[in-house]
Amino acid sequence: MGSVRTNTSGNLLELPSKILDELVRPFVGRDEEGKAILLALLTREHAVLIGEPGTAKSALIRRAASILNMKFFMYLLTRYTEPAELFGPLDINALKEGRYVRITRNKLPEAEIVFLDEIFKANSAILNTLLTIMNERVLYDGYTEIAVALWSLFGASNEVPEDPELEALYDRFLVRHYVKPVTEELWKGLLESSWAIERDGYPTPRIRLSREELMQLHKLIFDVDLEPVKPKLLKLFSTFEAKNIHLTDRRKGKCLKLIAAHAVLNGRLKASEEDLMVLKYIAPHDIDDFERVNVILSEELRTAYRFIRELEDIKMSIREVDSYVSSFPAIPSRFVEYRLLEIYRDLEATRERVLSMINETNDERVHRLANEVIEYIDHVMEKIKRKIGE
Ligand SMILES: Nc1ncnc2c1ncn2[C@@H]1O[C@H](COP(=O)(O)OP(=O)(O)OP(=O)(O)O)[C@@H](O)[C@H]1O
Ligand SMILES: [Mg+2]
Repeated sequence: MGSVRTNTSGNLLELPSKILDELVRPFVGRDEEGKAILLALLTREHAVLIGEPGTAKSALIRRAASILNMKFFMYLLTRYTEPAELFGPLDINALKEGRYVRITRNKLPEAEIVFLDEIFKANSAILNTLLTIMNERVLYDGYTEIAVALWSLFGASNEVPEDPELEALYDRFLVRHYVKPVTEELWKGLLESSWAIERDGYPTPRIRLSREELMQLHKLIFDVDLEPVKPKLLKLFSTFEAKNIHLTDRRKGKCLKLIAAHAVLNGRLKASEEDLMVLKYIAPHDIDDFERVNVILSEELRTAYRFIRELEDIKMSIREVDSYVSSFPAIPSRFVEYRLLEIYRDLEATRERVLSMINETNDERVHRLANEVIEYIDHVMEKIKRKIGE
């Protein structure tokens, strides 16, 4: 059992973001990677981190394992790795009796969290066994069939696989993330955190999570209301398809799980448009896809943010108009009257624009802000009417 009982005393929904903080704490600029790992854990799916050497892929996965109070198995694959190295050796005595039994103690079949480094080096001898383990959670090697304890399998690799034989394996990683070296503004932070890691090692996790606790969090994702995002998700499927980014049916089907997990990670039981950003982990296949998918998603999903920014601007300019209008005398001159009429007409046009935003999005925040702005516009329009005595 875990040593931290945050979830029984506190709110279960607050736990995932605390785990994320703890996971990425020793690193700089690794929030997206931490999120990818956590989303896989919450959904009981598998994740692969792809990227050049030395980008903390292994370190992040090992840190995740250190937070989880679960049985961990890691192995570095080469093209020559034998099945016995992962799944356990055959029991010689049983073999003498003509039985085919694997000694799985401390090997992959007993592990709940598995990390296979250089995952795409897997040869065909272990590939097929891995495929059923990942999909059915069953070890089947042609002779024996045993249930495995696997919760999530993590993979790391320097590149996406090109061999078609690896396609089925690649497809089983619902979460795929391309890890890039940190950008220039983080180099100073990188020096500091690397120094701290070299000097003191990785900080002991302040949270330890048991399988039971992870299971509670996992169950929570099925309570998330996903209705608000379904139409937009379907639209995104078409957009991707039109741009030659193809999601297998397995991946399409599993999208909702990851979307729900993202909502939970943000402390919500209701999905919103921003949760659709998780498609960036699901949709990419080739290396250029990662960037392309990001661009598509930010174009498609930024509507709400764009509207909010525009509404904030409108609100500010209405405030200016309001004080400008107030500065005029109660009985205005002809000239001022003319000027006020002009402002009145502008306000009418702005009001139309704000109404159209309400129609263009279902986003609650946009609606709230838009209604507030409309009220403000109405208030100023009333003021003008009183001044010109109409
Ligand atoms: N963003 C970062 N923040 C802090 N330390 C980092 C970061 N990136 C790399 N490091 C440091 O570099 C070390 C190397 O990382 P790691 O071995 O996990 O890389 P990797 O991506 O697994 O590389 P490879 O592909 O060669 O296996 C880490 O242990 C860490 O100390
Ligand atoms: Mg590594």
